[in-house]
Amino acid sequence: MIETVDTLPALRARITEWKRAGLRIGLVPTMGNLHAGHFSLVEAVRKRVDRVVASVFVNPTQFGPNEDFARYPRTPDADTRGLEAAGCDLLWMPSVEAMYPLGLHNTVTVRVPGITEVLDGAHRPGHFDGVATVVSRLFNQVQPDVAAFGRKDYQQLAVIAHLVADLAFPVELLPVEIARDADGLALSSRNQYLDAEARARAPALSAALRALRDAMQQGVPAADAADGAIAALRETGFDVDYVEVRAPDLAPFVEGQSAAVVLAAARLGATRLIDNLEFRLD
Ligand code: PAJ
Repeated sequence: MIETVDTLPALRARITEWKRAGLRIGLVPTMGNLHAGHFSLVEAVRKRVDRVVASVFVNPTQFGPNEDFARYPRTPDADTRGLEAAGCDLLWMPSVEAMYPLGLHNTVTVRVPGITEVLDGAHRPGHFDGVATVVSRLFNQVQPDVAAFGRKDYQQLAVIAHLVADLAFPVELLPVEIARDADGLALSSRNQYLDAEARARAPALSAALRALRDAMQQGVPAADAADGAIAALRETGFDVDYVEVRAPDLAPFVEGQSAAVVLAAARLGATRLIDNLEFRLD
């Protein structure tokens, strides 16, 4: 049976007991409304540890003022059942007060420089500060040996790797592949905002990234390939925030490099989708 805790003392009691018994702990941080992508993180981390903790917390500090914090889907009962089926031992479901005990306007904020200022960081000011801040708290609360993050949020993973390296968190990061629907659309809690017509257009995002990869593998320069992807997305009805080719560490891509990642964010109506694709060029 999965156990759910919503206070820090209850969480600490369980973690302390497990640590005393010499058990290794894995953490899967989430904002809930869980789908097969989230459960694949639980399954991946389970193989590496003795006990799996998942957190479900819709983190207010990572949403901009005009973003979907209030209407972000909250489905605690289904999440609990799904986590239990995926083999999760403990569900950490803190209130905003438990996560930010001194209040939202009195928080210690963790800011990762550089990498948070491009791509999604440029389009969502403050977003990655909120992510780095809540993930730091989760690491201190749960004290995991291993923490799983999806490659779906490629830049987020890079931000967290920077955070862990720089603040010396004693945690090993476990990156997990992107889970997709059969038509290529990356699974996301935000996909359910799409109406039938938008849902039918949405796979064009991953298709544009694959076409960009194919073009670059045939020698098309990154800038031209990105322009082609942007045009294809606009043709399908997307408002494009960005399509950018970068080096795998998110440094600027230089023609001739042997590996790349293309990252994209684009909106269908009010729904913002992100995706990325890593590929080799040798
Ligand atoms: P959330 O969007 O709920 O995602 C939780 C984790 O699931 C992240 O590591 C994300 O990359 C991963 N994930 C989501 N969709 C996925 C998919 N289709 N395939 C593989 N992994 C996928 O990301 C967050 O929450 C928050 O920013 C969080 C890290 C919890 C901090 O609040």
